[in-house]
Amino acid sequence: MMEYFAVEGGHPLEGSVTIHGAKNSALPILAAALLADGESVIHNCPALTDCAAALEILRCLGCRVRREGTTVTVDTTCRREHVIPDGLMGRMRASVLFLGALLARDRAAAACWPGGCALGARPIDLHIRAFQALGAQVRSWNGQLSLQAPRLAGRRLALPIPSVGATENAMLAACGAQGVTVIDNPAREPEIVDLQGFLRCLGARVTGAGSDRITVEGGHRLHPGEYTVMADRIVTATYLCAVAAAGGEGELRGAQASHLAPVISALKGAGCAIGGQKGRLWIRRKGPLGGVGALRTGPYPAFPTDAQPLLAAALAGGGGKSRITETIFDHRFRYVQGLAEMGACIQVRGDTAAIVGRPLRGAWVEATDLRGGAALTVAALAAQGESRIGGLEHIDRGYEALDRDLRALGGWVWRKQE
Ligand code: EPZ
Repeated sequence: MMEYFAVEGGHPLEGSVTIHGAKNSALPILAAALLADGESVIHNCPALTDCAAALEILRCLGCRVRREGTTVTVDTTCRREHVIPDGLMGRMRASVLFLGALLARDRAAAACWPGGCALGARPIDLHIRAFQALGAQVRSWNGQLSLQAPRLAGRRLALPIPSVGATENAMLAACGAQGVTVIDNPAREPEIVDLQGFLRCLGARVTGAGSDRITVEGGHRLHPGEYTVMADRIVTATYLCAVAAAGGEGELRGAQASHLAPVISALKGAGCAIGGQKGRLWIRRKGPLGGVGALRTGPYPAFPTDAQPLLAAALAGGGGKSRITETIFDHRFRYVQGLAEMGACIQVRGDTAAIVGRPLRGAWVEATDLRGGAALTVAALAAQGESRIGGLEHIDRGYEALDRDLRALGGWVWRKQE
């Protein structure tokens, strides 16, 4: 049975929606729950297929896991395993974060190489180098990984690039290392700060997240804690771009403007009015949507790579010219094919997409990855006529119910089955 979004575009939006918890914060936090002895409680954990996979990994490791709405309870009392089943490891990139937590707890971990979106090469060399620097021996053979660490000792780690996952894995492993670990040139994303917040509520001594140096004083037994996951800033960017694309106005409850300065600045430059106060954002676009000139993605606090497809989708149906350069992933323009089927004028050369905005028409298209699929849905809201977006399994990884939320904003979007 094939599921798809049926979208009728061309209608300005008007409505309000609550932003759900952040996938890229909940996933490392669920891995970090392994570090505590007992039952931790995590609130605002989004009901996403990636989070379901993380909960399944915790169950396979022997934890008792319960979900009541968006509150998840993880009890590690009966934990016994340190081998992650291939089927789960291959389902998403974030599975790799369980390696750092298992290394900290058991000084051992085993798994196959992680899976994830088809965004190009997704190496984990920086994760492995961080584990080795802390004292782990790493063996790799026909797609399998085995980590052993008779003991883990804190030390200075310098990341050549501010990798989000490598930073998170280094923080997790360092919690199990005797002594102080200093991570230089870490990722500074808000999700890293959220992970630090959760670790500290377990009693871990972690400081500096969000800055250019994170310090972990490891080797202490950690107790269970209770924590609330931050709002998802890429979901927020998605809904901002949806209103920018279709026109009209929208209120985003729970949104954190401070996490999205480059996205807000780009949309204002293209002709949107955006404002808000603590925990709430509004956006309005009454006149034409222009272009953004030249824009580059980069590590936080630069323009986030995850919002690049979403902004491009809005600009494609506007009336201005833009050039977006993707500096993080080498295959992050695959959604452009779908936009072209809607009549978009986008030329991709190497790492740059040149966009000349013009009216779009509805089309039947297929999502190839998570944010690319959301981008096609955003563009369909602006396109004249009916669109169908297939490949919802990609979209469901990062959005609780993209159709439900876009309908709450006034969009004509329904989930259907063929
Ligand atoms: C995280 O992926 C996010 N995923 C991604 O979100 C996000 O796009 C990315 O960070 C960048 O912000 C989760 O948090 C689960 P990286 P991650 O390590 O950790 C290279 C989404 O849509 N690299 O910061 O995999 C890598 O190839 C997803 O929610 C190495 O070379 O990203 C990439 O070019 C998509 N060696 C760059 O670094 C390594 O060992 C940044 O990757 C690790 C990474």
